[in-house]
Amino acid sequence: MAGKPKARDASAIEVAELAETEAAAELARLAALLTRLGHAYHGLDAPEATDAEYDALFRRNRAIETRFPSLVRDDTPSAAVGAPPEGGFAKHTHLVPMLSLDNVFDRADFEGFVARARRFLGLREAAPLPMVAEPKIDGLSISLTYEDGRFVHGATRGDGSVGEDVTPNLRALHGLPQRLQGGAPALIEIRGEVFLRKADFLALNEHQAAAGQRLFANPRNAAAGSLRQLDPRITEARPLSLFAYAQGRSSEPVAATHSDYLARLRGWGFSVNPLSEPLDDADAAERFQTALALRRSSLEYDIDGVVYKIDDLALQERLGFVGRSPRWAVAWKFAAEQAATQLLEIRIQVGRTGALTPVAVLEPVNVGGVLVTRATLHNADEIDRLDVRPGDRVQLQRAGDVIPQILGRIETPDAARGPAFVFPDHCPICGARAVRPEGEVVVRCTGGLVCPAQTVERLIHLASRTAFDIEGLGEKSIREFHEAGLIGAPADIFRLTPDRIAGREGWKDVSTTKLMRAIDERRTIPLARFIFGLGIRRIGETNARLLARHYGSYAQWRAQMEAATTIGSDERLALGSITGVGETIAGELATFFTEAHNRQAVDDLAAELRQIQDEAATRGGPLSGKAIVFTGSLASLTRPEAKAMAERLGAKVTDSVSKKTDLVVLGSDAGSKAKKAAELGIATVDEDGWRALAGLPTIGT
Ligand code: IVH
Repeated sequence: MAGKPKARDASAIEVAELAETEAAAELARLAALLTRLGHAYHGLDAPEATDAEYDALFRRNRAIETRFPSLVRDDTPSAAVGAPPEGGFAKHTHLVPMLSLDNVFDRADFEGFVARARRFLGLREAAPLPMVAEPKIDGLSISLTYEDGRFVHGATRGDGSVGEDVTPNLRALHGLPQRLQGGAPALIEIRGEVFLRKADFLALNEHQAAAGQRLFANPRNAAAGSLRQLDPRITEARPLSLFAYAQGRSSEPVAATHSDYLARLRGWGFSVNPLSEPLDDADAAERFQTALALRRSSLEYDIDGVVYKIDDLALQERLGFVGRSPRWAVAWKFAAEQAATQLLEIRIQVGRTGALTPVAVLEPVNVGGVLVTRATLHNADEIDRLDVRPGDRVQLQRAGDVIPQILGRIETPDAARGPAFVFPDHCPICGARAVRPEGEVVVRCTGGLVCPAQTVERLIHLASRTAFDIEGLGEKSIREFHEAGLIGAPADIFRLTPDRIAGREGWKDVSTTKLMRAIDERRTIPLARFIFGLGIRRIGETNARLLARHYGSYAQWRAQMEAATTIGSDERLALGSITGVGETIAGELATFFTEAHNRQAVDDLAAELRQIQDEAATRGGPLSGKAIVFTGSLASLTRPEAKAMAERLGAKVTDSVSKKTDLVVLGSDAGSKAKKAAELGIATVDEDGWRALAGLPTIGT
């Protein structure tokens, strides 16, 4: 059948094959995705992807930018390091930005790094280029400021320019010199890595488990979580360690080479990694790499590679930076760590869309120093592909990520094996039939909204940051309310009342009032978020936005979706031909709207809301594309809330006032930024003015 060519899924196309419009769409998708993953990793200490997955996405983004330099976005993830600070800590501006390192994965890439440095410096190919190899510690980097030899400030990396001031917490860190011994410059920034030893990490998790608290995924997250405590006594109780390895600003030069600098760090009283070694070619680097990889699992702390730095600081100065990384250093990453263990049992978990996901329960095993008890098996095909059965010995790998992976089965005679795993044909939670649609890999529960597993997962999704964004209504509260019978359908969230919540364990008047306010604020919601929040299969943020944009208003969308359930109807054809939607997604929406209980759930939810904002209103609104600065304190909104609201309306929020700023929102006690705005003649509004622009009722400021 000859029809209109379908839009290709840009995310599945090789970089070299991308057309320009596809490349632009891909860069937009990658920017959003990498930002989210970066935030989960650095801001929330709860990674959503493995390091390898993140690296692959990052490299893809870079490669597209290299091919289409004119498409590089203002918010390109290549320029961002880490995440901006979360609320709670004061901000600290680094005198010299804290940057990141480029990664290489094999000898050829490493030789490329050395060759580029030589070329940049105009050195002959054979000219010696002394380097220092240092283990790459898998912790979190910090910057320590010393004035006249005294420790005055310590901060996390944050977004590279501005981090969180964690001075009191760092004072509690035993290995950190409060005073530099011997002579020190008047001002110096010293950089290093804070980390938790594997044994300390395991002990901490045991302690967390005994206290019924959440477990940390790996030593890195535990170190980050421990350092970013608002109460320094908690930090002090956790045995964090520190290695110093770099410098930021210094009021006077302190060394001529990096090796000398490391010696000075030792002299001042810092611990410096004892495994560092000078070397000067790729042969030596490869030997170092291999030798360290062998020792890796017996080290007391996690490392994920080796950092190679050009030793001569004058050459470092000349080489400088490109984007977010220095030209004078590179990280040669190790492959993931592996171990063998026994697969005890395969358990089935049920997700929001009813997907039955198999999880491997393992005989606990130490993988590179961390105890692993679970691994994902993805789906039934994966179990077949790996040919694993309960009782088998399996090989698994961990790469600083949350969920370890099973690589394969270790051969045993067939006779010694247990029976093959039979994938259930009923949902283990609600007992409804589980089916695997033709041509799909996932088995799904047909219980829909009556399956408790799906109900809860859908509610969690609805309240989550990228959907309705209901502050204070996290996974834990939702599970609790659901168990207590307070919520089931989406609309129930908006029917919660203070008297049903207050008095429950852990819910005080203040937290209840806060939650009620957060819920109430979301009675006004952009159409795209409403659609996304329903958690319909395959309707992610992008598709929800496409639909909202196409139909414009809630009424229009709702009516068309119902009509589109009839195969062959004009509405169904129209839905399937929206660029980027296509037949599969149209089918998914039709399936959802065919079910009376789903239509009821959507209508009930809509009835609880004040306004589902038309897409046009949020897209072309007065704030779309504007650069906004908030300053001073706002009475009715927290800063992150105001920021999220501005972004929802299409504005960009920045920290400092410049000529590029379009609007400054003045809270009470607005100081220098208000003055600057006046000097530059930039428009300002007070809190009520802002609420009016954002479409909120005014409060009379
Ligand atoms: S040097 C300008 N040395 O790796 C680069 N970094 O991926 C300064 N890291 O942010 C960093 N061990 O958190 C350096 N021996 C080492 C390191 C190291 C771990 C971390 C650090 C940095 C990240 C870059």
